[in-house]
This record gives sequence, structure tokens and C-alpha cells, in this order.
Amino acid sequence: MELNRRTVIAGAAAAGIAATTLGGTAHASGGSTPVKKLFGTLADGTKVHLWSLANGGTRLKVLSYGGIVQSLEIPDRHGRYRNVSLGFDTIEEYVAGSPYFGALIGRYGNRIGKGRFTLDGTAHQIDVNDGENTLHGGARGFDKRVWDVEPFTKGSDVGLYLHYTSVDGEMGYPGTLKVKVTYTLTRQGDWRIDYEATTDKATVVNLTSHVYWNLAGEASGSVYDHELEIAASRYTPVDSGLIPTGELAKVAGTPFDFRRAKTVGEDIRVAHQQLLYGQGFDHNWVLDKGVTAKPVPVATLRDPSSGRTLRIATTEPGLQFYSGNFLEGTLVGSGGTVYRQGDALCLETQHFPDSPNKPSFPSTVLRPGQTYRTTTVHSFGR
Ligand code: BGC
Repeated sequence: MELNRRTVIAGAAAAGIAATTLGGTAHASGGSTPVKKLFGTLADGTKVHLWSLANGGTRLKVLSYGGIVQSLEIPDRHGRYRNVSLGFDTIEEYVAGSPYFGALIGRYGNRIGKGRFTLDGTAHQIDVNDGENTLHGGARGFDKRVWDVEPFTKGSDVGLYLHYTSVDGEMGYPGTLKVKVTYTLTRQGDWRIDYEATTDKATVVNLTSHVYWNLAGEASGSVYDHELEIAASRYTPVDSGLIPTGELAKVAGTPFDFRRAKTVGEDIRVAHQQLLYGQGFDHNWVLDKGVTAKPVPVATLRDPSSGRTLRIATTEPGLQFYSGNFLEGTLVGSGGTVYRQGDALCLETQHFPDSPNKPSFPSTVLRPGQTYRTTTVHSFGR
């Protein structure tokens, strides 16, 4: 046994990786090769796996169902680990009704008004699942699909490739869309997401990730005392159905001004029509840097009590900051307690909602021969 273990370690060291912890092969940097185990079985018999990986002090658990981040653990200023993302313990709970906890979102992150758009003169009606509008791709978006997951180790990085092919006409969208999402944990403990997609017909695409963050720890109560900074001078106001009006409004002098860090709760109860529509913050911030080839830092979230921080860098032009307004005390999370309004928040990097109907917004059209590519990096500190 001991000999075998030494052989494994010697082989791994030769390949640039080192010893074993908790069943995974560990890197010199503290990373370990992804380990797969059965999480549950869907009604149609499809098996759902849970992948565990770690690197640079970050521990990530990902489901093949929805590419869902089931748990993301990081240390506080004293080195104490907590899961900082909301989720469930069983596949049945995810299937029964998850508000997109930790999931990959596609084909179109956030809303498309009335589920309609016209592309190259052809009108498309997509699946409507949020009042009269489409939210996060339709009733069976990418969050409810089983992805092919393949682990990798590359130098000091560890990660997962997630593949899903969305057939022509799925949820009403034109074109067969081949999607590849790469989750990488770097030796610094950053969680990087690279999205790629190609199509065989002109279509619209807007992919994102829907982690519900609570840096004090899942099930530790409200995030209203978290400090948030967003590098955006404008946001996209919405109508009562949360569809952007098309205006890019200045944040200056409004509750939407997060250019200097302030707590999430500071202005959340200000009597402002936009906060009434969203029942809190549920808006797209127009990032000052616009679309960029490389990820640029755009937001910082900090929990003063634990010292944990999250920094987000992205190539995307928009950020949906959603303050967990529709958590209504109806779901029991992985920690065994009930989630209530404000128990977590989402920071979804994206193109703007309803872009297919807003010619002045950055385009979300993807054509045959083009490759959709965006990157978002989550860095953690304490
Ligand atoms: C949307 C919210 C929605 C939430 C989860 C967010 O991205 O902006 O309106 O309730 O996702 O369902």
C-alpha cells in the first residue's frame, strides 16, 4: 500500500503534481485533481455526479446537472472554512424548484421581453417562464440540463470542462449551439470561468453563472452588512416586469451608486421606484470598462465580520446585482436552515437583459463561423 502510494506520488510529481489528500491527487500548490462521486439520479434514470476540486485554498463542488456550484468553501481571516454559496443537499431539491442556485445560465441570462425577438428579419418566439417574459433561457434552460464533465490538470491549475449541445429550436432559440464552459481553480485559489459557444444558424447567446454569495457563510443570515463596490456610472432601469426601458441612467445621487464601497443594506429601503420594481436591487449595471478582450476588475464584495472578500473581473459589459429579493422563506438550504430575503446576493456578469430587442445595447448575436468567448474570474481574499 505504502509502496503504491509512493509510486503514485513519484508519478504525479513527475507530471508536475504531488501527494494525495482526501482521495484526490494534490498539487504542490495545494490543489487536487477533481474527484467524482454519485450525487443522485434523475427521474429518467440519468446519474448526476458531484465533482470536488481544490486549489490555492479554494474548495469547489460542482454538479453535472446545470454545472451547478453546490458548494464553494474559502477561509476567513482566521483560516476557518465556510461554504459561501447557497445550495441544496439533494438532486431532488434542485429539480423540484431551485432559484438557479449556483447554476450555469443559458441560452440567455436574464430576461427577454415577451420572449420575442427578430433576427435577420425572422421573428422568434421563445419559451415564456416569468410572467409574460423569458427568464434565464426558458423553463428548461442550461441550469436544468445534464452536462458532460471532463476533469483536467494543467500546470498548477485544476479544473473541469463542461460540454452541452443545445439543439436547434430548443426553448425556441434558432441554431444548434455547442457550448463549452471551463471552470478553473488556479494556484492562487481563483475560480475562473471561460465560456465558449458556436452555432450553425444566427442566434442570440448570453451565458452567466448564478452563484448566491454569502461571504459570512451559507445559512448565516442577511448579507445587508456586506460592502459592495461596482465600477459602473450607469445602470439599466427597468419596467414593472423587470425589462430594461432602454435608458442608461446615471447612478450618481441614487441608491444605485456603488462606485465607492457601501453596504448592501445602506440604501435598499430608500423609496425609489426602481427598488420597488425589483423588491430591492435586481438590475444590470453598465460597467464603465465596456466589453474587453481581457477580464478587468469590476466589483468587490466584502464581509467585514469574517474578512472574506470576493473580487470579480470580467470581459463582459454588464453586471446583474440581485439582492436575493425573491428568497421567501420557502426553501431549506444545504445547512438545514430556511433561506429568507437577503440571505445571499448574486453578481452575474453578462450582456444586458433584453439586448435582442434593444439595438442600442451591445449585441448578443452569434453567427455561424464566429466563436462566443467570455471570461469571468472570481478572486478571494481575507
Ligand atoms: C434575476 C431575478 C431572479 C433571479 C433568480 C436574477 O438573475 O434578475 O429577477 O429572480 O435571477 O430567479
